[in-house]
Amino acid sequence: MNRLDPIGVIDSGVGGLTVLKWLQEKMPHERFIFIGDTARTPYGNRSREEIQGFVGEMTAWLNRRNIKQLVVACNTITVLGTEVIKNGYDFSVIGMKKGAHMVEGVTRNKKVGFLATDFTVASGAHKKEIQEMDPEIQVFGQGCPKFVPLIEGEQFGSPELAAAIKEYTDKLKEYDVDTVMLSCTHYPFVEKEIREAFGPGVTILDPAER
Ligand code: DGL
Repeated sequence: MNRLDPIGVIDSGVGGLTVLKWLQEKMPHERFIFIGDTARTPYGNRSREEIQGFVGEMTAWLNRRNIKQLVVACNTITVLGTEVIKNGYDFSVIGMKKGAHMVEGVTRNKKVGFLATDFTVASGAHKKEIQEMDPEIQVFGQGCPKFVPLIEGEQFGSPELAAAIKEYTDKLKEYDVDTVMLSCTHYPFVEKEIREAFGPGVTILDPAER
């Protein structure tokens, strides 16, 4: 492995571009190979076995291109676990942060929500990490299965996207959350709309930013 080797970046689709952009800004001298699996997106409603199979194909391809490191720019893939993703390869694996370090000191009423794929919510990983940090924080995960197909289809400004945003944000509002994490790398594409739907009393955090 050579320090000039590229860094692989994977996602189920265009969401990973939000992370790639950030990586390129922070590390302008690195070379990146990005795979967005737009042929098979979304991953968030698939089984663990299926997602693992797709990830195995991407990592085998990237390994043949001698990546020194893999950045998993996808929360859904990240919750499979680092060792599963690494699959014995030499490169190191970095996944998406679950955001506990970000909510600390931000939530005042200790009610935190996160928007994610159904797979990510069902894994319980985000809730676990936040409550390990502070057991008093109540964590509410909201699956948003309509978001990724609408974002991949570039349906920005459409009534369907507006209705989906209303549906999912209304559900989290019922729990009186004051802090919400965007725990899917696709969602920053509609961050402004999500922010507006919650209003000024709710802090929106994007774990991809730190
Ligand atoms: N970008 C993804 C994530 O961060 C996955 C979306 C999907 O394919 O459902 O979870």
